[in-house]
Amino acid sequence: MTTTQWAALDTRPRQASLPPLVLAGCGTVGGALLDLIRAGQGSDDAVRSVLVRDPERPRAIPLPRGRHVTDPGDLPVEGGATVVEALGGEEPALSLARRTLRGGGTFITANKVLVAEHGIELQTLARVHRGRFAFEASVGAAMPIVRLLRDLPPEAEVRQVEGILNGTSNYLLDALGRGARWEEALAEAQRLGFAEADPGRDIDGRDALDKASILGWLAFGVAPADLLRWRIGILPDPELLAREARRAGGVPRLLARVRPVEGATLRIEASVHPCVALSGSEWAGVREAGNRAEVRTERGGVLSVSGPGAGGDATATALLPDLRDLRAPHPGPELRPGGAPIPPERGAENRHRIENRDSIEARDSIEARHRAEARDSAEAAHRREIWQHDPARHRTETRPSTEIWHLSADTRIPGLPQVEVRDRIERVLDRAQIERGRFERSDGRWRVRIETSATARVVLIRERLSALDLRPVLLRELKGGMSERG
Ligand SMILES: NC(=O)c1ccc[n+]([C@@H]2O[C@H](COP(=O)([O-])OP(=O)(O)OC[C@H]3O[C@@H](n4cnc5c(N)ncnc54)[C@H](OP(=O)(O)O)[C@@H]3O)[C@@H](O)[C@H]2O)c1
Repeated sequence: MTTTQWAALDTRPRQASLPPLVLAGCGTVGGALLDLIRAGQGSDDAVRSVLVRDPERPRAIPLPRGRHVTDPGDLPVEGGATVVEALGGEEPALSLARRTLRGGGTFITANKVLVAEHGIELQTLARVHRGRFAFEASVGAAMPIVRLLRDLPPEAEVRQVEGILNGTSNYLLDALGRGARWEEALAEAQRLGFAEADPGRDIDGRDALDKASILGWLAFGVAPADLLRWRIGILPDPELLAREARRAGGVPRLLARVRPVEGATLRIEASVHPCVALSGSEWAGVREAGNRAEVRTERGGVLSVSGPGAGGDATATALLPDLRDLRAPHPGPELRPGGAPIPPERGAENRHRIENRDSIEARDSIEARHRAEARDSAEAAHRREIWQHDPARHRTETRPSTEIWHLSADTRIPGLPQVEVRDRIERVLDRAQIERGRFERSDGRWRVRIETSATARVVLIRERLSALDLRPVLLRELKGGMSERG
């Protein structure tokens, strides 16, 4: 006879009552929140007013009767109101946030564009007027990465945050990794609601970079505007990414990363770029529209979280804790005044061998293959040099003092007419948010001078130009800024 090992527990959730609230936006996320409130509270009485653009349009979740407005100015957000914003974009969300916080109210948002662009201002307004600004749902939907970083004590000393932060691009790359064609993967993602009609911000990395910037603020106390930001999306040839990843024994993923710039004490870099996740790794296990993030700390080890990174219900469940947290102290992310020095990493030499294990292993395998293929070839030295420029692997490498990239005019790119070399570089510049790039030709070689806009720092872009290496660019910051040389 077997005995019961577990006593029955009453696991029914106890639903704390919600404060009276104003809901700005009742689409995918706002509608799901309304539905959760009705299910949890037995009514939507807590929702005092709802802002929509078109109250007549058909919706799965009906609006509360007689409590909707279409003009943001009619929302009762002054005088300490609690406002949940699920509109998206900058306006009218920003004006609503300012009005709410100036009145000492609480502003809760799922809007990463708003937080990445105006988070510092809104956090300051909240402090000055004793209001509250909360944005758990703005990164990773139900995946609790904002909460994790916000609650980590500074003593843990965060060294790096990286993650798959965009569900749409992950859905597409996951499908390509399983052999789908780009057009069919995109059509399926749109049919299932994982991709919008215009997935531009998702596939060019802007969405993930906004989220990475928010995580950079939380992890390092550096304002998004002060981060060194760069991104490479999954275009122009996502199928090529998938083929390259397969050859390296993995699947393609779009990785966002925030970490101190190598060798600099005050600079934090936020980046987004495609990489290879080895089959069987946790990163490769992030399927469809899933998200995953890893926080590497000096004293707390490596912490990871994962979950559905998008969807109405998943995002609404992340809004609720912010609504219920009202009485708990909410310190919010502190800014480092002037960018306080980040202490040097201890034991970096040992750790960097396992740091970013998956992509390093993938690189190792690519590198080994390339070495074999390029043996006795004139390109061997060039290839080796490019791989060795990866700062994650070569922390002590002496940086080259030149910022000029020489591309031989007779560089052959199999399958591409020669004239496209220059076009291709320009596209790369565009994707990497580089403001100025100048092309000069002399002695039969192209020279490229590149400057970033936000930081006035110089980055070097190298693109691997061969049949094997069409996929990525390698982008890195150089010490000392652009010199007058060249
Ligand atoms: N969807 C997700 O999976 C997800 C996940 C995480 C975070 N988020 C974020 O959540 C926010 C909302 O996303 P969503 O997917 O719910 O968007 P959505 O479905 O397009 O809903 C937007 C809502 O805002 C209303 N609205 C927009 N502009 C307005 C204006 N100028 N005046 C009045 N009403 C306006 C719309 O009114 P109508 O209903 O009349 O059209 C709609 O109710 C965004 O910041 C998004 O980035 C979304």
